[in-house]
Amino acid sequence: MKMQGRVLSVASECVPLIKTGGLADVVGALPGALAGVGWDMRVLMPAYRALRALAADWPEVWREDGLWGGVGVVRMGVVAGITVLLLDAPHLFDREGGPYSGPQGDWEDNAQRFAALSWVAARMAREGFGGWRPDVLHAHDWQGGLAPAYLAYGGAAGVKTVITIHNIAFQGWAAASMLGELRLPASEFHPGALEYYGGLSSLKAGMVTADRITTVSPTYAAELARAEYGMGLQGVITARADVVSGILNGVDTGVWSPETDGDVLNYSVKSMKGKAAARAALCAEFGLDVPGPLAIVVSRMTDQKGIDLIPMVLPDFIAAGGGLAILGSGDPALEAAMRGLHQRFPGRVGLRVGYDEALSHRMFAGADAVLVPSRFEPCGLTQMYGLRYGALPVVAAVGGLADTVIHASPAAMAAGVATGITFHPTDAIAFAQALRQLVQLYGDQKGWGQVQKNAMKHPVGWETSAAAYAALYQGLLP
Ligand code: ADP
Ligand code: GLC
Repeated sequence: MKMQGRVLSVASECVPLIKTGGLADVVGALPGALAGVGWDMRVLMPAYRALRALAADWPEVWREDGLWGGVGVVRMGVVAGITVLLLDAPHLFDREGGPYSGPQGDWEDNAQRFAALSWVAARMAREGFGGWRPDVLHAHDWQGGLAPAYLAYGGAAGVKTVITIHNIAFQGWAAASMLGELRLPASEFHPGALEYYGGLSSLKAGMVTADRITTVSPTYAAELARAEYGMGLQGVITARADVVSGILNGVDTGVWSPETDGDVLNYSVKSMKGKAAARAALCAEFGLDVPGPLAIVVSRMTDQKGIDLIPMVLPDFIAAGGGLAILGSGDPALEAAMRGLHQRFPGRVGLRVGYDEALSHRMFAGADAVLVPSRFEPCGLTQMYGLRYGALPVVAAVGGLADTVIHASPAAMAAGVATGITFHPTDAIAFAQALRQLVQLYGDQKGWGQVQKNAMKHPVGWETSAAAYAALYQGLLP
């Protein structure tokens, strides 16, 4: 394959190294997907505590003095086929806890920590390292947001920039007084550039300086221009509409395929026996006995995900024969609400609070349906896992959920194209109606089988999206 160009991707998470959400899946999947269409992508990310040992023997490819109170060293290695650049700056990243927070909550110097990551990204892109220099720097979310800004303000030396918004709710806010400390030019502190409601936002900084802005679904790209979804940044999206586009995420079908999944009893559209066995195993694992549809939720427990609606709609769903297995963690109030349901409906509601990748595979394999009642959803991955595993997605028709699930309307059923159930708006009334439809469809063996088959055949791999990113990069080259 002819090499089309080089991309330096900069992000705070990357599967299989560290993950708190779908961002990591996408950052980890892109290099492989893009290699298939001739693009050479390397990923720069922080060497968090758990990653330092891994990189200890890797060759050093960059050294940055004066990196917000210490030295940063970048080491390069290959993990699961991905060329990874780990920024080891112990004073910023060698800490107990997750990427953004420790035992006491969010780190107070998050602005500086990810400014440092972005600073190194911009410098490595501008100057190149070990004979490799990118054509494009691709920043993800607010954590990478300052990288395009540093290139724009400090000289890009021909390197083009893209920023991808995975979730506009996280904006990387900092006080205006941090302008100098974040190495940003005072001359750009005005509403048309860096100023954001009297302060700074590293996401906005990336959005005003990058050559292209992408987000992770076409519908979310359109939603972002509206106040309900733009969360303060709708004006920036509108002003830069000519460079905004939505490219749907894919899923890694090497990991998520019922035919080959090493965590589950295998099955396929042609031979569904394994799915029935997986369902029985899942019921046994959660202590459930469910005559109707067995639904699952695999999610961060936050307001975004609409988890608070579940207690409102569940009693009727249970009364109609349904059951629910829940895996997730997050907001303590939502975790408590889920515990309440588990106690109230023994044998019908199962719960695991925590994070468990292998269990999530067993859940998709065993489930009849996956519920995703999000208030907003830039793309969403679990509805796509649901499609692939024949666990019919029941989703709010927002963002990427609207772009990936074809509602089982009478017309779609007649045309034989339905893949799940969508509802709108995200409230208990519409959600309850969607669950009634799920129960009804489950009772119609022929209709159910048809939708399940359509779902499992629906393409959710990276091919189309990789081609779209490749075209985007190509369009930036001279
Ligand atoms: P978001 O990134 O907003 O959380 P996505 O749907 O894009 O939403 O991605 C979430 C990813 O995290 C999926 O791969 C999902 O399976 C996974 N996930 C979420 N919660 C858990 C959990 N408790 N255990 C295992 N995997 C989880
Ligand atoms: C964010 C979004 C999610 C998306 C993921 C990967 O976490 O909340 O919808 O799928 O990023 O792009």
